[in-house]
Formats: sequence, C-alpha cells, structure tokens
Amino acid sequence: MDSFLTITAAILLVGSLSSTASRQFDTECYTANGEDYRGCQNQTSLLGGKPCLFWNETFQHPYNTLKYPNGEGGLGSHNYCRNPDGDVQPWCYIADHEDGIYWRYCDIPTCQMPGNLGCFKDSGDPPTLTGSSQTSNKLTIQNCISFCRKQRYTLAGMESGYACFCGNDLDLRRHGKAPSMECNHVCFGDHTQPCGGDGWVIVFDTRVGACGGNYSAPSGVVYSPDFPDKYGAGKVCYWTVQVPGASVILFNFTFFDISDQTDMVELLDGYTNQVVARFDGRTPPREVVNVTGDFVILYFYSDRTNQAQGFAVTYQGGFTHTHTHTHRQTHTQTHTDRTNQTQGFAVTYQGKRHVDML
Ligand SMILES: *[C@@H]1O[C@H](CO)[C@@H](O)[C@H](O)[C@H]1NC(C)=O
Ligand SMILES: *[C@@H]1O[C@H](CO)[C@@H](O)[C@H](O)[C@H]1NC(C)=O
Ligand SMILES: *[C@@H]1O[C@H](CO)[C@@H](O)[C@H](O)[C@H]1NC(C)=O
Ligand SMILES: *[C@@H]1O[C@H](CO)[C@@H](O)[C@H](O)[C@H]1NC(C)=O
Ligand SMILES: *[C@@H]1O[C@H](CO)[C@@H](O)[C@H](O)[C@H]1NC(C)=O
Ligand SMILES: *[C@@H]1O[C@H](CO)[C@@H](O)[C@H](O)[C@H]1NC(C)=O
Repeated sequence: MDSFLTITAAILLVGSLSSTASRQFDTECYTANGEDYRGCQNQTSLLGGKPCLFWNETFQHPYNTLKYPNGEGGLGSHNYCRNPDGDVQPWCYIADHEDGIYWRYCDIPTCQMPGNLGCFKDSGDPPTLTGSSQTSNKLTIQNCISFCRKQRYTLAGMESGYACFCGNDLDLRRHGKAPSMECNHVCFGDHTQPCGGDGWVIVFDTRVGACGGNYSAPSGVVYSPDFPDKYGAGKVCYWTVQVPGASVILFNFTFFDISDQTDMVELLDGYTNQVVARFDGRTPPREVVNVTGDFVILYFYSDRTNQAQGFAVTYQGGFTHTHTHTHRQTHTQTHTDRTNQTQGFAVTYQGKRHVDML
C-alpha cells in the first residue's frame, strides 16, 4: 500500500486536471462487439433491413431459447438482435436463405461503445488518419490504440483487420460516417473485435483502455486497462474524477468481468483516500454507487493470474440545484447476472457461421 499512497499523494499534489469534453452517452452498448446489447432493434437495418426471426422459433439453428432457456446471451421470446456467441457485432437469424446464409449482422445505430467514434470511408489518398501507421497480423483494437496513445495521438483507426492508423483530426463532414457493418472485419489478433474493412476505418478515442487518466467533465466513461482486450497482469491504475461543483458522483458499472478475487476495483474519496467501495470477482457491483463530494479516485489492481476483460464504468456528477441525482438514485439495476452469463457462455462459437465458412 506504500506505493499506492505515494502515487495518490502525487496525484493530489499536482492537482491540475485536464479537461475532457462534456458528453452524454445515449448508447446501449459498452463493449466493442455489442455483446452487452439488450435493445429492441428487430431488423438487420433500420432502412430496408430484413426482419429478424424469434429466438424462441429458431430451433433448427444453434441459438434458440430451448438450448438457452435462461436468457443466456440475451436470448428470449423476442426477435431482437443479439450477440450470444462473441461475434464482432449483434446479429439475428433471418427467414431467407441466400447462398446458404441464414443470419445477418444488424446495423444498430444506438449500439456503439463510448470511445468508438464510428466507421469512416478511407480512400487512402490522403488517408483518413494521417499520423503514424503500422500493420500487424496480431492486430487488436487495444494494441492499435496503445501504439497511437504512446505517440500521443488522440485517435486510433483500424482497417482491413491488420492495419493501424493514428491521427488527431477526423473531419466528420469530409469522411461521412458509414454503417458499422462496413467495419466488421475481424481483427487478426482477436476474432471477437471489429477492425474496420477494406477502405473503411473504425476510429477510437485513445483514452479507451488507458491505465489511468484524469476526468473533469460532468459525465464520462472509464474503461479498464487494455479494454476491449483482457487487462494485463500486474496492473496498478488510477483515474481521477473531479467534477467541479458536484455534490455527489454516481458510478454505474455497465460492464464488469473480473473473475479473480484479488483483482479489484476501488472507489476512493479523492480528499481523504478513504475506500468507499471495493469490487472483485466475488463481490461484483450490484447497483449504482454514489460517492458524496466532487472528487473520486478510481483504482484498479490486477495480480499475475486470471486476466479477464475488465469493466466499463460511467460516472455522472450530481448537482444539488438540479434533481438529476435524485431520479438516478431510484434505479438500482444490476448487471451481475448478465456478466456471469456472458462468461460461461462464450464457449459455443461454432455453429451459426458453419454454413458460410465452408
Ligand atoms: C419490430 O418491432 C416493432 C416495434 O416494437 C414492431 O412494430 C414490428 O412489428 C416488429 N417487427 C418484426 C419483424 O417483428
Ligand atoms: C415466441 O415468442 C413470441 C413473443 O412472446 C410469441 O408470440 C410466439 O408465439 C412464441 N413462439 C413460440 C413457438 O412459442
Ligand atoms: C493526471 O493528472 C496528474 C496530475 O496533474 C498528472 O500527473 C498525470 O500525468 C495525469 N494523467 C494523465 C493520463 O493525463
Ligand atoms: C446504469 O447503466 C445501465 C446500462 O448498462 C442502464 O440501463 C441503467 O439505467 C443505468 N443506471 C443509472 C442509474 O443510470
Ligand atoms: C446515495 O446517497 C443517498 C443520499 O444522497 C444515501 O442515502 C445513500 O445511502 C447513498 N448510497 C450509497 C450506495 O452510497
Ligand atoms: C455464475 O455462474 C456459475 C457457473 O458458471 C454459477 O455456479 C453461479 O451460481 C452463477 N452466479 C450467479 C450470481 O448467477
């Protein structure tokens, strides 16, 4: 705990916090591949998409409610797009068979994790992101982000599954945003992650998955180190969340995958360093945590074994003169069971894609 106090003291001493743009999240997904999507889109695309089949009527296929009767992967008596098998994005079965394909990816505008800025056309001349680049047959979203972050770029883009581009500016008007489906080539280094397409670049904020950072916007999201890859061994990370004028800061863990009992996340009062909440594999967060005051330190520690995907936590400053926090405190939704299901469920990968892979 010595080093912990020293680092905390250092954070407190320097004390000046970089500001991040204020941002509200209207997303329904916090994972890169939408495995946490529980929304209600029931067709493959909002414009001219195909209707999805009901999961309680797809008994001829590997994913259905008979095989997964307890809501595993979000399946149920509905026809909403889901990603129960750790694919690169939510999908559903459809009625038509075209070239033997009986399922389709869903393009879901509301399912884009914060930090994923979208899918953009890249003509290559000039490239959409003009900084450093590299190619790798082990590319993952996070190793591209890390490559760009280390060189102090704010944006990282992946293309064709193996190419990584860095940059600081993304002219959205010039490079109009494309449907996410254009960017769902799998990353060569992790087949559950989307890494762009041929001539399409998927762009991320390089703060995603950083080990530490400073947040001062009224709301934001913090991802565990290396997200969406598994967090590394022996990580010790601190993030400061200081929201000027806030009387309380609410923390909502929208994704939590830590199986180890020694790996942990803590929330500390930023002034007293008192631990307000502690979560690990045995005691996952079950409800929104509200911390009184305007300054919180988020701490993450991992040991040498049992790495997992980690967490996504949103925070929201509450101000006594408005009533935002009052209404938020009434929600105490838990995501524990979802995380549990996802963990035990990722095994069954084969099957759905069987046909079109032949
Ligand atoms: C999809 O959901 C909408 C709204 O809930 C409903 O009106 C529509 O009939 C559904 N479509 C299909 C194909 O189930
Ligand atoms: C599947 O669920 C829908 C919605 O609850 C229901 O209308 C339909 O009858 C169910 N199908 C079967 C085969 O149970
Ligand atoms: C956060 O702020 C502290 C204190 O100003 C600084 O030492 C640290 O480098 C900052 N961290 C990041 C990731 O910007
Ligand atoms: C916490 O996040 C989940 C989304 O993962 C959302 O459904 C829920 O309403 C949030 N709770 C609060 C109090 O904002
Ligand atoms: C949240 O804040 C309310 C009062 O503002 C308090 O009664 C409650 O105990 C707090 N909950 C947690 C988990 O800290
Ligand atoms: C989590 O899953 C395990 C099996 O994988 C099960 O034994 C345990 O009861 C589950 N816990 C919860 C809270 O559902």
